[in-house]
Amino acid sequence: MRIILVGVGTVGQAFCKILLHNKNEITRLYGFEPKVVAAVDSRGAAVNPSGLDLEILLNLKGGGKSVALDPSNGKKGVSALDVIEEVDADAVIEASPTRINDGEPGLSFIKAALRKKRNVVATNKGPLALALPALMELAEYKNVALRFSGTVGAGIPILDFGKKCLLGDRITSIRGILNGTTNYILTRMTEAGVTMSQALEEAQKAGYAEADPAYDVKGIDTACKLVIMANWLMGRDVTIKDVDIQGIESVTPADVEKAKATNNVVKLVGTLEDRITVHPAFVDRNHPLAVDGALNAVSFKAESAGEITMVGRGAGGMETAGAVLRDLIDIRRSSWRGSGGRAL
Ligand SMILES: NC(=O)c1ccc[n+]([C@@H]2O[C@H](COP(=O)([O-])OP(=O)(O)OC[C@H]3O[C@@H](n4cnc5c(N)ncnc54)[C@H](OP(=O)(O)O)[C@@H]3O)[C@@H](O)[C@H]2O)c1
Repeated sequence: MRIILVGVGTVGQAFCKILLHNKNEITRLYGFEPKVVAAVDSRGAAVNPSGLDLEILLNLKGGGKSVALDPSNGKKGVSALDVIEEVDADAVIEASPTRINDGEPGLSFIKAALRKKRNVVATNKGPLALALPALMELAEYKNVALRFSGTVGAGIPILDFGKKCLLGDRITSIRGILNGTTNYILTRMTEAGVTMSQALEEAQKAGYAEADPAYDVKGIDTACKLVIMANWLMGRDVTIKDVDIQGIESVTPADVEKAKATNNVVKLVGTLEDRITVHPAFVDRNHPLAVDGALNAVSFKAESAGEITMVGRGAGGMETAGAVLRDLIDIRRSSWRGSGGRAL
């Protein structure tokens, strides 16, 4: 499987590490050899149709340099669109930064890859939150796969669970704590009685929150994940414009104390029913959704199976890269294409 890797940051580098360490086992167990034939970052590309040396790439990126400095294969200033257009490959991994206002540059990369009949595995939520129905249609039309397991819950196989394990059942609702940063902040407010700004500072120091945390704190990240689940798991045709979003900015220490007094905790809850909403809510302290710290949790309600909750780390380079590999194996197994079915 010839792979173009777009974005060689935390996720892209973790993917390279997994391939370096597990390549032989992947080939033995799954019968194919994944090979990165091109890697692109913001400054250029490295291209080798026989496969790049991933150790060289990791050394360059570890030193803060561009893949374009690969001594034998580097191409300064070459863009991802050039590479997608010109390099022969079976799959494109899209792991460039999320930009929610316009989904770019990832949206153009995904569209270009699908148009070239390349299977796509995305970890970037932006393009999906804005245009998932259209992208799914394009993938279907081109008879290739578009997968994005790492976008919801990183390594927690939330999308695979809803898609494959509930076949024949009907998912009636999904509720989730889908953002680690806000959950960390609310947990610290609950446990240590600190204010929101103190908790945010702690989250930034601990590496959970970005320098600009607006995307998490305002509930946008959670909304993106709901949009992806709505389209992929429930057959809905929605984008982020269809989500009613309220972040955690207005949560006060008094709210947190009121929750405690009634054996509840304040959480940023994403809900997918007839309406799709993100808002702070009281959750029963004993409900499986009441996870602490940076953990994520998702509760599915299905007609036959009842309520099922998955809990785990919802972010991290290795976790997300593991999800990318799962998608690639899945694409390979389903003869490179197909939507893989879904619950009723
Ligand atoms: N990290 C996580 O835990 C996690 C979990 C789930 C999903 N995600 C999503 O996965 C994506 C990647 O995350 P990350 O943490 O790996 O981000 P990151 O560390 O910031 O890396 C982004 C990479 O994209 C490259 N890039 C930027 N603009 C580009 C362009 N125009 N063309 C090609 N490459 C470009 C950057 O190049 P330079 O190296 O030159 O700067 C960098 O290599 C994001 O959309 C993120 O939201 C991340």
